[in-house]
Amino acid sequence: MKNSCAEIQAQVAERVLEITINRPQRKNALTMAMYSAMAELLNSAAGDAEVRAVVISGTQGAFTSGNDLTDFLGGSASGTESPVFQFMAALYDFPKPVVAAINGPAVGIGTTMLLHCDMAFAGSDAMFQMPFVNLGLCPEYASSYFLPRMVGHAKASELLLLGKRFGADEAVAMGICNAAVPADEALDRARAAATEMAGRAPEAVRLTKQLLRRGTRATGMEVIRNEAGHFQERLASEEFREAATAFMEKRPADFSRFE
Ligand code: COA
Repeated sequence: MKNSCAEIQAQVAERVLEITINRPQRKNALTMAMYSAMAELLNSAAGDAEVRAVVISGTQGAFTSGNDLTDFLGGSASGTESPVFQFMAALYDFPKPVVAAINGPAVGIGTTMLLHCDMAFAGSDAMFQMPFVNLGLCPEYASSYFLPRMVGHAKASELLLLGKRFGADEAVAMGICNAAVPADEALDRARAAATEMAGRAPEAVRLTKQLLRRGTRATGMEVIRNEAGHFQERLASEEFREAATAFMEKRPADFSRFE
């Protein structure tokens, strides 16, 4: 399948499109070009009868470390016109099943995109985190809406206010992933589920996905837009600048001077 970005690989086998995030030197951190490439792939697969399901995975022991922080520090947009938003919308509206295979870090959007996949398999080495507050940012991709619905208010607050890391078993317990599996089996399990769904009656599969999401779809998109506005503002904040600079300088962030 055609793709404009070397760090996003795509291939179709048995009517399953496999999208592989491949930027291991940065733990698969996502740049604007990578978001655009993934959005293009999903948008073209949506209308392609040769694709009936999608698998998203990373490479070399990482799913994705989330947004590239250097990109964000450099002023890259995340508002509704940005490649980030185009990717979010493409996945959110994608009409066919999407299955994720997670190994290693799944940070930021690496975790929140799972809320919009249909199934996910976590290797025993998976590490999930939504460190938005730790970075002076705020929740994105409707995590402030879907997480409390899935895990309750107290747990969602813990995950979003403390930005706590969690592993495969907890992700399964919270309903973010279907199963925790040995690290070297996550991709095979995701492929097997996607291939199985690709063999089912395609219209029935699409309708079932649509019905499963009907109750939350419109509000979820409204929340995604609202959060994106706040997120964009937070990227310009001194709090984010301190947090991202601290990450690059490999030191703890110091928020003591902020009011
Ligand atoms: N953006 C830019 N660079 C990133 C990155 C990101 N999101 N995540 C990792 N990198 C870089 C690191 O700076 C490091 O670069 P270096 O080799 O020049 O020092 C390299 O990728 C490897 O990362 P490292 O931190 O050494 O790997 P690790 O296995 O110890 O930890 C993570 C992996 C993902 C837990 C850790 O890198 C991390 O927390 N990254 C930031 C995640 C984040 O905050 N994302 C944004 C969410 S909105």
